[in-house]
Amino acid sequence: MPLLCGRATSDNTRDKMIESEDFIVLHGRESSLVFEKSSGGAPLWRYWGPRLPNGELKLASLESSRPVPSFSPDRNIPLSVFPTFGAGWFNQSGLLASRAGRSFVQDFTACSASADPDNNSLRLTLGDDVAKIRLLLDIELDRATDVLSVGTQLENMGDDPLDVQRLASAVLPLPAHLETVRYYTGRHNKEFVPHQENLASSVWCRENRRGLTSHDSFPGAMVASKRAQNQAGEVYAAQLAWSGNHVQTIEALDDGRRQWHLGEWLAPGELRLSPGATMTAPGVLATFSTRGYDGVAQNFHGAIRKRMTWPRGRMKPRRVHLNTWEAVYFDHDLEALTALADAAAEIGVERFVLDDGWFKNRNDDRAGLGDWEPDIGKYPDGLRPLADFVVEKGMEFGLWVEPEMVNPDSDLYRAHPEWALSITGREPITARNQLVLDLSRHEVADYLFTKIDTLLTTMPISYLKWDHNRDLTLAGGADGRAMYRKQTLAAYKLIDRIRTAHRDVEIEACAGGGGRIDAGIAEYTHRFWTSDNVDPVSRLGIQRGFLQFMPPELMGAHVGASPCHATGRSHSLDFRASVAVCGHLGVELDIQTLDAEENKTLKSWIAFYKRHRERLHKGSVWRGEAGEAIVWQAHGDENHWLLFVYCMEQTSSRFPPALLLPMAKGEADYRVQIIHASNAGDRPPPDARLFEQMRGVGAVFSGSWLRHGGLSLPAMTAESCVIFHGKAQ
Ligand code: DGJ
Repeated sequence: MPLLCGRATSDNTRDKMIESEDFIVLHGRESSLVFEKSSGGAPLWRYWGPRLPNGELKLASLESSRPVPSFSPDRNIPLSVFPTFGAGWFNQSGLLASRAGRSFVQDFTACSASADPDNNSLRLTLGDDVAKIRLLLDIELDRATDVLSVGTQLENMGDDPLDVQRLASAVLPLPAHLETVRYYTGRHNKEFVPHQENLASSVWCRENRRGLTSHDSFPGAMVASKRAQNQAGEVYAAQLAWSGNHVQTIEALDDGRRQWHLGEWLAPGELRLSPGATMTAPGVLATFSTRGYDGVAQNFHGAIRKRMTWPRGRMKPRRVHLNTWEAVYFDHDLEALTALADAAAEIGVERFVLDDGWFKNRNDDRAGLGDWEPDIGKYPDGLRPLADFVVEKGMEFGLWVEPEMVNPDSDLYRAHPEWALSITGREPITARNQLVLDLSRHEVADYLFTKIDTLLTTMPISYLKWDHNRDLTLAGGADGRAMYRKQTLAAYKLIDRIRTAHRDVEIEACAGGGGRIDAGIAEYTHRFWTSDNVDPVSRLGIQRGFLQFMPPELMGAHVGASPCHATGRSHSLDFRASVAVCGHLGVELDIQTLDAEENKTLKSWIAFYKRHRERLHKGSVWRGEAGEAIVWQAHGDENHWLLFVYCMEQTSSRFPPALLLPMAKGEADYRVQIIHASNAGDRPPPDARLFEQMRGVGAVFSGSWLRHGGLSLPAMTAESCVIFHGKAQ
């Protein structure tokens, strides 16, 4: 039983984790966690929030500080690290499980904690000797990024199978004073649509049952006060590291706080743990910042960067792509593609990615998936001549694949219809004319591994674009059970197997654009294809949402054709390129259709990107808005940054608003230069003297002025961009 007034003491000169008889305290850079031990029961969640001071923390035990309310169990049942149903906790349960309908209550009574102060981590072992289960919770607060990672494992210690209907990956406490939740919905060609809602007394819930991460519901959110802004205010954020079905709920508790559950969404009967078996839930990354939405984004960027596994342990400068999809679609002609590769090398492209359309009978999206051999009609000598040409030109050769899929019109399906996920007695449901292979069958995984391994072994392929172009339906396995979870794990395993055999190959995660963007697949891949929509106006919104959770170097961003294929809108090449250079740059058009002037312009943007990619990809990102029509984004660090200012629309005010720049240090002076300005149309608005100077040697401003007074902007036309370069002197 905790003391009435407990103490958690330690050496107060260090940021060390503190463990006393009653409490465990973990400190991050800007946040702290406090758990209260609970005589045998699961530790209680007492605190997640702003950094508490080092040293002794004096606080009262929860039991001593609140009376038992009327019509309630005679002992307090507060929010624990893992609340469960049936023994006095009436809110959402972290676990719902039974043994053939019996043993439906879980209550952890045999719990222990083991702390690892060096790693700022904690392993909590929660045992229930009656339900015969054990839950292991691994909690780590990374001091460098302030990101809390939670790992959860469930073990069936009983003699009968355990049917798990729900298992949270993490249960997080939220303080009472935060009122809003911000999250993202979307669809193909319109990913990361932001929403902000007030939290109410009803449960807030987002569920995804599409079988992969989905365009519709990013598996994460932010909870904040209404006053939180891009760079100020308390924001809590979490994301699930998982590429399958998911659910998150936020629910008000009796003490005014809220609990936030994130986990997998399980189909009926999907998860049955046999006696002695253990399952690992998807991981959760969570973070708190008082530096607003950008603060949590920067923390996530740090955490994702730490989890990435790059060939040879290090990210190479992100190579400029040319992706053939919107240039030729399925119309592959060796001569034309060779000419395209030649033109690409000429303007500075560094990786040529041959998209869909290269394999057997793949003349449209109705046939061929599963038959991973070059189409001899299009490539009489295989892909080698093209791949060799690309490599001779100094570029890398990348190839598109969609291994998880099969077209009914394919040799593979004709030979093995039973390899597709299905439900006996039900007509298969195709989407984009394709079905989904059951990757958990070892013969399927072996077949796909062999096919991809052969391609990678026999040709100089150093990059795969790994696509997944449909949601899962009738996703039953050979045993008739739901396969969503197994399919996700099997996809990870297959990618891992290929990477182990081909250590230098980088992989891009794509699912009709941004249908599989999450921290789970980020551990296996190296880039996301953010969206099939490369319209710069749409992209600005999509990319700002992406950057809330993922760092810019993973954000595939291409310069497409005008009019844009997805939206039909036209934009200047400068505007298209100015939006794409903020991510991992690529080109998604037939550059041979550009005139000499456009070709030169694109070449100069590629050179711009190469000059600045180190700064664009390795530092922090800040995002902001000004007036009704300006959005801006800065990349770098406090001493040296690039600032992209986009004007979306004519402003109604006569003068553009000044930008308050949070990345400027109050005590420094900055030389600020305009390194690019592209007004749309051929009637540039009148310029002022200052901007002429800034286009040349630059102008010097106090950091405090830039922070609080603001940077003046030149007149801008709609859909144009000005790029500033700022350096502390
Ligand atoms: C969907 C992807 O998002 C596109 O970039 C392209 O690779 C097509 N699939 C090819 O079918």
